[in-house]
Amino acid sequence: AMDAVRVLVTGAAGQIGYALVPMIARGMMLGPDQPVMLHMLDIPAAAEALNGVKMELIDAAFPLLKGVVATTDVVEACTGVNIAVMVGGFPRKEGMERKDVMSKNVSIYKAQASALELHAAPGCKVLVVANPANTNALILKEFAPSIPEKNITCLTRLDHNRALGQISEKLNAHVSSVKNVIIWGNHSSTQYPDVNHATVTTRNGEKPVRELVANDEWLNKQFITTVQQRGAAIIKARKLSSALSAASSGCDHIRDWVLGTPKGAWVSMGVYSDGSYGIPAGIVYSFPVTCKNGEWSIVQGLKIDEFSRVKMDATANELVEEKSLAYSCLN
Ligand code: NAI
Repeated sequence: AMDAVRVLVTGAAGQIGYALVPMIARGMMLGPDQPVMLHMLDIPAAAEALNGVKMELIDAAFPLLKGVVATTDVVEACTGVNIAVMVGGFPRKEGMERKDVMSKNVSIYKAQASALELHAAPGCKVLVVANPANTNALILKEFAPSIPEKNITCLTRLDHNRALGQISEKLNAHVSSVKNVIIWGNHSSTQYPDVNHATVTTRNGEKPVRELVANDEWLNKQFITTVQQRGAAIIKARKLSSALSAASSGCDHIRDWVLGTPKGAWVSMGVYSDGSYGIPAGIVYSFPVTCKNGEWSIVQGLKIDEFSRVKMDATANELVEEKSLAYSCLN
């Protein structure tokens, strides 16, 4: 029998956590044959709720679930984990300054970086979901210097999937026929959803999205703003964050990273920039990537037009600013 993979979910008593842990236990993250051991971390104020989630996981009798660790102790939570999904964080509350929220999250991610570095299994893969996701991932990377930078990523797959969904709705084509959209940059409203390389599989073969939609006005304006502002639209409608789709996209992110992307397709992941496409090195930026043998690599050689260049640089600039804000919180 296969050994269980230990998967950490921080913030597991929260909205996304509640949607995510049953998906992991059902095999949606690591496949239908892979047993899992869930490690769930939350803060003491949420300990009782966290224990309730553990009770439900037991009650659901998931065949793949080999055990549950539910704890408020970060060392216990991180010990031996192979995958770490970082959903816990300090939310922005009304009237709070950006710097105050950043400061809270910088201290959380600094502490959790050290715990992962000391106690996670070798080769642990990290996905940061909590906002500001790119900068939390950067802080985690900086304070876990022995974890290879290629093992630390952030979630922009939800934005990627939202872009696929918008094209699918527009063309009345099934979402699985749409591929190769790109989310560039920050998981924030400055992100750039790019359809210039996206295609749809039709009865007459693969066609560019631009040709099929044949509406540059919609693609260059409404499509982009709808994807950028989708998170806010869901909060407005549900009065809660987009927990279901964030959880599902988090599973997609890890599954494709571990098991590989399909032939001919790429996905978007927030990764540590190596300077590809003229994006400054040293920030966590969302790029198109393919994955093989458990490693991602940035898709190279895509043609970037002037419209895209401006938007890719604007979201990079925001990340450079966020980085300096984060560093100013460290002092
Ligand atoms: P939530 O507030 O329901 O849950 C967050 C949980 O984190 C709470 O249970 C809280 O107690 C816990 N927590 C706080 N500090 C912690 C710490 N130091 N260690 C462990 N746990 C801690 O929030 P929700 O809706 O589940 O969202 C979680 C995060 O994900 C937020 O930051 C949100 O902005 C972000 N998000 C990111 C998305 C993405 O695509 N990257 C999409 C949607 C949400």
